[in-house]
Amino acid sequence: MSSLLVDNIGELVTNDPSGEGLLGLRRKAAVLIDRGRIAWVGPSFHAPAADRRYDAGGAAVLPGFVDSHAHLVFAGDRAEEFAARMAGEPYTGGGIRTTVGATRSATDDELRGSTGRLVDEALGQGTTTIEIKSGYGLTVEDEARCLRIAREFTEETTLLGAHVVPAEHAGNPWRYVSMVCGPMLAAAKPYAKWIDVFCERGAFDEDQARTILTAGRDAGLGLRVHGNQLGPGPGVRLAVEMGAASVDHCTHLADDDVDALAGADTVATLLPGAEFSTRSPYPDARRLLDAGVTVALATDCNPGSSYTSSMPFCIALAVREMHMTPAEAVRSATLGGASALRRDDVGVVRAGARADLIVLDAPSHLHLAYRPGVPLIRTVLHDGVPR
Ligand code: NIG
Ligand code: FE
Repeated sequence: MSSLLVDNIGELVTNDPSGEGLLGLRRKAAVLIDRGRIAWVGPSFHAPAADRRYDAGGAAVLPGFVDSHAHLVFAGDRAEEFAARMAGEPYTGGGIRTTVGATRSATDDELRGSTGRLVDEALGQGTTTIEIKSGYGLTVEDEARCLRIAREFTEETTLLGAHVVPAEHAGNPWRYVSMVCGPMLAAAKPYAKWIDVFCERGAFDEDQARTILTAGRDAGLGLRVHGNQLGPGPGVRLAVEMGAASVDHCTHLADDDVDALAGADTVATLLPGAEFSTRSPYPDARRLLDAGVTVALATDCNPGSSYTSSMPFCIALAVREMHMTPAEAVRSATLGGASALRRDDVGVVRAGARADLIVLDAPSHLHLAYRPGVPLIRTVLHDGVPR
């Protein structure tokens, strides 16, 4: 593989403290890529020789987006449920069981095809690292199958067997918890890096969530939690107590939750696509940022609460609806996502990092929120290869 110089970059977002401001900006910059990694970053006029040159034409370049929360392995859609919500129905998570039925009935090839289409859709919008959860199989075989398929697309795979208690176990949730902790975890483990629990009224309570997270940790998986989405609850504090990498949603927070996050290395991952699509109040991002909490932005792409794969859309929502500055939103969608996945090789532009870059059709990162809904992604380089 030959080296590639991305040259004539008007504004380079590095997320490296050696650059200017929150985003580590560099002007009139160039990036040398060699064997899928960034080999050098510096001013254009000092750029080293390379086998090939890509002229960014003065545009903005930033690290590929890191979408640290997505549910991509499913069949069917729930457009009618969305329409009903827009007519006033509340979101309860009850529709998850509809998708479970459709997913169980789908063939491997159908699930592989639909997952691949969503991964491509995300890549076209700048996402170069994506986490993919199971959670619409909810049997030992179907959860393992969904993770096996997810693993074909990403190394960031998450067992979400504890999404909801499936109908066949409705009378005995603890029996289902035992199944998740025993045979499901064993069958999923070869394909899963993480374990996640939907800790929420109507899904799994604190004791059940702790039991599942403990079993996952004992099996060597990293921990993630869906917490405090639909109401106040124990999810955030449990995630911090267990040392989870991330607690996701964080829509309904008490002061204790914010204090717990402020003193921990658990990332608060905000999913504004879910609030958009469920017409719910947005999380208070300012309160978290002002308390010093590391915030990530992710899509939560799923057929129920947030059927978008677009990180630029989430950035625009975060700025307009959650009062994040454009720089905070871009940082959360790149470096924040990397922190939520405990990765230091993505979400940054510096020597040694993966050569995952977005070239915008715009002179500055500000345009991502300033021009919502406009396809501003000119080129995506993934592992140094233009897509
Ligand atoms: O993160 N909260 C639980 N799970 C998903 C929604 C899944 C669905 O509605 O199908 C979420 O929003
Ligand atoms: Fe989710």
